Amino acid sequence: MNKEFLWGSATAAYQCEGGWKEGGKGLSNWDVFCHSEKNSVNPVTGDVACDFYHHYEEDIRMLAEGGQNAYRFSIAWTRILPDGTGRKSQEGIDFYHRVIDTCRKYHVEPLVTLYHYDLPESIYEAGGWENRNIVEQFVEYARICFEEYGQKVNYWVTINEPNYETLCCYGFGNYPPNVKDLGRRWRAMHHMLLASARAVAVFRELKLPGMVGLVSDSYPIAVLTDNEAHKKAAHMADLFFNLCVNDVCVKGAYPQDFVDQLKKDGYDLSYMKEEDPSIFADGCVDYLGINAYNRYIAEPADGPETNLGVNNTGDGKKTKFQIGNWFSLGEDSEMEKTPWGMEINPRSIYDLLMDLKRLYPQIPVIITENGVGNYDEVVDGQIHDQYRIAYLEGYVDWIERAMEDGCTVLGYFVWSTMDVYSWINGYKKRYGLVYIDYDSDDLVRIPKDSYYWYKNKIQNRRKSF
Ligand code: BG6
Repeated sequence: MNKEFLWGSATAAYQCEGGWKEGGKGLSNWDVFCHSEKNSVNPVTGDVACDFYHHYEEDIRMLAEGGQNAYRFSIAWTRILPDGTGRKSQEGIDFYHRVIDTCRKYHVEPLVTLYHYDLPESIYEAGGWENRNIVEQFVEYARICFEEYGQKVNYWVTINEPNYETLCCYGFGNYPPNVKDLGRRWRAMHHMLLASARAVAVFRELKLPGMVGLVSDSYPIAVLTDNEAHKKAAHMADLFFNLCVNDVCVKGAYPQDFVDQLKKDGYDLSYMKEEDPSIFADGCVDYLGINAYNRYIAEPADGPETNLGVNNTGDGKKTKFQIGNWFSLGEDSEMEKTPWGMEINPRSIYDLLMDLKRLYPQIPVIITENGVGNYDEVVDGQIHDQYRIAYLEGYVDWIERAMEDGCTVLGYFVWSTMDVYSWINGYKKRYGLVYIDYDSDDLVRIPKDSYYWYKNKIQNRRKSF
């Protein structure tokens, strides 16, 4: 197993692969959503995306030439099991063997995510994550992946961001099924956490080498006014954004005050079954993957109304975000923001890591995503993304300080390896270290200045880790 610090970058299947109808692949809910009239905010699809399906060798080679020793990608469930369950696709299985073997050829450690937002359409139509049947369906899929690739993959992720994904699906309502109903959200998230825990148990049963984790979008929570009401709001925000996922997958149980609050809010919790606590307890992760993008400022809620408004718009505009009786979100006007209104606050990753060390000293962390989305421009064939370099430089520095102060961090992955499809912002919002010219016939790849900066950084930092 690679004991070196993992310096890598990340992608996800729907966002980069394309080849949506190739290689025996079945349809996912995103394929269908993007082709429907519901996809009105950003009417583009991932049908072709970066065409990683045909360019994977080039992309992995460029990543390795950029000094990176690790690559995080996700498997499309629909390439392995086109109908979600039952019939396997050998062509799809072979594709990921080729991707993993290519990583090995270039001395790149693969970190493989089983589920990153794209659900087989048939499972989605049967209720998706709201239907408890999905737990064993996910286990069937996970088992195939573990059996196929388990001897050549050392780092696994069960599920990407149970929190943010369900918030977009059932809170903001901008991911399928596009509804605003937090009760349905808590139910879907419960099933995701159960599915993850069951997959972890199967991983252990198979006695595979390596580690298995879950990727959690986690947020440092701060207050701008230091009084009891604000501190309480910060705790409620922590329950809402962080602890309801992290406690379950690391400690094997929901925080009691989280469950109490759901009861107080009157949610029907009958989906929480008697056997679930032991499933959670038997499925604790080996490490926690952290996607670090933003810090939240908590304020007391001004009433019982819940209002999630809209998020993720390129004009930086935000509407009020309040979870009735829990907390609302404020803004620190002093902080610099990205064009999408996210705080640029490198120090916050240090605070987050120190919090995780305090709460979960028993397990290490991998930063599975960190990066900045922007409108990049090509000038004379180059992309001078100084803003990205400044952002990444700051975050890497503060991660190093957290490591010096005792946090166990095994790796760092920039989001993203190259520009990829952005779920709500299509191809305008670019995160890549490598630019994709979407207008060129063969989707030409151009390394940005940040790609060279990262290469240099890795070479220098390798000496000190
Ligand atoms: C993370 C997701 O939450 O954020 C990625 O895991 C996503 O899939 C990334 O692309 C950036 O999101 P967005 O909406 O800014 O493109």
